Amino acid sequence: MKQIPWIKKYAPKNSAEIINQTEAVQKIKEFLIKFPNINKKALLLYGPPGVGKTSSVYAIAREMNYEVVEMNASDVRSARKVHQILDEAIKGKPFFHKGRIILIDEVDGMSGKEDRGGLGALINIVGESKWPIIFTANDPWDPKFKKLRDICELVEFKKLSTLDAYKALKRISISEKLDIDDNVLRILAERSQGDLRSAINDLQTLANL
Ligand SMILES: Nc1ncnc2c1ncn2[C@@H]1O[C@H](COP(=O)(O)OP(=O)(O)O)[C@@H](O)[C@H]1O
Ligand SMILES: [Mg+2]
Repeated sequence: MKQIPWIKKYAPKNSAEIINQTEAVQKIKEFLIKFPNINKKALLLYGPPGVGKTSSVYAIAREMNYEVVEMNASDVRSARKVHQILDEAIKGKPFFHKGRIILIDEVDGMSGKEDRGGLGALINIVGESKWPIIFTANDPWDPKFKKLRDICELVEFKKLSTLDAYKALKRISISEKLDIDDNVLRILAERSQGDLRSAINDLQTLANL
């Protein structure tokens, strides 16, 4: 039976549902409210996998009535591709929303050199865009991101605690009426090392056994 993935079903729908990333959420909201009257015209959200970087952008966008135009950085390795995909998005106007966020997700995979200028083109796009741009990365300290760091405000997403993960799993377990022992939830939470995506996926797998 095909189910919708619980990571989607239980993704935060507004900023109040984002677990334990208060500072980051506040920074993103302020950035959007002030844009374009700010020093840095883009954000770089960074932190380990599965802690809410991507889903927070969607939750805040929904709450503030912004459209999200997302692209995965792996789709825009060459400068040509960057322009092909983004030139429209950085200029036009959304039909149904107050504004637009351009989300360039998971830039880690891009290479500074042999990627035919993709990273450099993204940096130019920030200068040209009429809409706010948000990047995400796991490791923003890689030397290849030096220029990107210079033009972005950095926003840290913290690793979630085992307790955070446990509470999230508990909530899902109740909502799905699962018959799973609390200790099992604790073990799943522990094993996830603060990666809520993997914890929730593990729970769904277990529930289907
Ligand atoms: N801080 C959080 N608050 C609520 N849900 C979260 C949080 N972090 C992760 N999740 C859950 O895990 C899923 C994956 O999170 P995601 O935002 O894609 O992580 P990241 O982009 O940091 O790798 C989300 O859809 C959501 O279900
Ligand atoms: Mg992500």
